[in-house]
Amino acid sequence: MKTRIWLGVMLLMCGGLVRAVDGPALYETHCAKCHGATGQADSWRGYLFFSRDFSSAKWQAARTDEEILEKIEQGPRIMPPYKDKLSAEERAALVKVVRSFGRQP
Ligand code: HEC
Repeated sequence: MKTRIWLGVMLLMCGGLVRAVDGPALYETHCAKCHGATGQADSWRGYLFFSRDFSSAKWQAARTDEEILEKIEQGPRIMPPYKDKLSAEERAALVKVVRSFGRQP
């Protein structure tokens, strides 16, 4: 009886892992083409559209998480809005990815 409960708990946990949002993969799919794999906009699109350098400490300090989320939802200038394309969970995960670029050496 006890083992069955544990099996159930473990299945639930695995389900949670499968459904977990993979921020870096989302970034790779939707954002890297303009913002670069490392967030430094070191791609021809980045140069062309003047995307920000997310690894810059100055940029990181100038933006709150709320502002980053807002930009992702609305899409400034040439950037497409992601409000309807990504779930709230996915957008929140992307804020974390953008933040992580600021911690690069
Ligand atoms: C078509 C190219 C393109 C794509 C795709 C794109 N962006 Fe952008 N993004 C831009 C441009 C251009 C700006 C505007 C730079 C500016 O004027 O501040 C921008 C601005 C931003 C800003 C705000 C910068 C600031 O300081 O105002 C954030 C945050 C951001 N993008 C994150 C993302 C994320 C996350 C994704 C993926 C879901 C993404 N972008 C996809 C081109 C793109």
